[in-house]
Amino acid sequence: MLCKYCNSIIADRSKSCHKCGRATKEVGSGFISMASDSKSGNIPEINIGVIGYGFMGKAHSIGYRKMPYIFWPPPAIPKLLKICGRNEEKVAEEAKRYGYLEYCTDWKDIIEDDRIEIVVNLTPHNMHAEICIEAANKGKNIVCEKPLAVNSREAKDMLKAVKKSGVKHLCNFNYRMMPALALAKELIKKGKLGKIYHFRAVYLQEWLVDPDFPLTWAVKKDQSGSGAIGGIGSHIIDIARWLCGEPKSVMSIAKTFIKERPLPEDPGKKGVVDVDDAFASTVEFENGAIGTLEASRFCLGRKNGQRVEVNGELGSLYFDLEDLNYLYVYFKDEDLKDTIGFHKINVTEQEHPYYSNWWPQGHIIGWGDTFVHTAYNMIDSVINGNSLEPMTATFEDGYRNAVVCDAVLKSSETGRKQQIIYEK
Ligand SMILES: NC(=O)c1ccc[n+]([C@@H]2O[C@H](COP(=O)([O-])OP(=O)(O)OC[C@H]3O[C@@H](n4cnc5c(N)ncnc54)[C@H](O)[C@@H]3O)[C@@H](O)[C@H]2O)c1
Repeated sequence: MLCKYCNSIIADRSKSCHKCGRATKEVGSGFISMASDSKSGNIPEINIGVIGYGFMGKAHSIGYRKMPYIFWPPPAIPKLLKICGRNEEKVAEEAKRYGYLEYCTDWKDIIEDDRIEIVVNLTPHNMHAEICIEAANKGKNIVCEKPLAVNSREAKDMLKAVKKSGVKHLCNFNYRMMPALALAKELIKKGKLGKIYHFRAVYLQEWLVDPDFPLTWAVKKDQSGSGAIGGIGSHIIDIARWLCGEPKSVMSIAKTFIKERPLPEDPGKKGVVDVDDAFASTVEFENGAIGTLEASRFCLGRKNGQRVEVNGELGSLYFDLEDLNYLYVYFKDEDLKDTIGFHKINVTEQEHPYYSNWWPQGHIIGWGDTFVHTAYNMIDSVINGNSLEPMTATFEDGYRNAVVCDAVLKSSETGRKQQIIYEK
């Protein structure tokens, strides 16, 4: 059958469209039964191998565990087969905690394991390329955390490897899978804002203000590539490309406020911070829109403060991650002139992206639930061959994102505007 929203071909038993995430059946608004009315039949299992048990290890593990609870019947039931980390005692503990059947301390054990169909790479940025390229060469489907690599050269090598092997590849810019932002994408695609004039986004956190925060991999160039630019700036760069289109040029400034930090292994000694703590950038888009991007981990009071705003000829919209179940919209040609103004949409209706799989209206979801969508989209793509784009970012997006990150960094170093040029 065809999705009534985006006309994609979808399997008859799917409850939602793989492309736009909308419900496939007419559903009444209001309270509905959450019991599944579909017969599952035989559902295959799919083996997952995860590398990295830190912050993202927790987020993705929950995503795979929860996915079939939420998307029923799922395209396949994820089996948490094996998790890898360098410290045996710790990885054994995390395997027990998250429900992995096995654990290992060498990531090559995941790549070499013929039972594993999806490799999930949740390591520091400098480990993304080597692991993903070996995984692709072994025919593994890959989920890799953002940013795809420490720079665009490595990202390009990764893209070539997945293209050559023909595996499915997903770069986890998970905010694409936030229902409110997915709705923003649909509204823009339908032309509800008309021609876009402005895109602006900030991503603000506070955790580096403390001068005693140690010199972890996230503030070391050899392991992270850049600081706020790749760490959180890459998220808003992805949202910019996704909602507004390709950037043509950037002009940026970046700053390192605290230049030395205590060494994690010996806090009495300090090491040099060689990445940016914050950046601000102006952007010109191919479609003529202009915009600003800003990211910092030095904004006291901003815990995970991401805000995105788009202004077009017919209307505007904005999204605030710390209030993530809502999308604010303004339409110039609203029928009722006396109620014109920004409307706050609670993006939890059955008609909203992804939501037919979740709860009754008003029963909100949280940040971690985007990882359930990552798990669903990836497994659906592997099992049913569905395209991940445009609702999910791929290694192509990861590569283009890395080109923009490189340009932001270069512009901040040279003080000059940088053109965005993607290699064919
Ligand atoms: N999408 C998001 O919202 C989001 C949020 C935070 C971090 N991230 C990204 O996720 C990735 C991981 O970040 P994190 O915060 O989970 O880091 P983390 O430091 O908490 O965890 C990193 C993990 O990688 C493992 N690791 C490191 N080197 C390894 C090696 N050689 N072999 C095997 N395992 C190794 C460590 O043992 C650890 O378990 C990064 O790319 C980061 O930018 C994404």
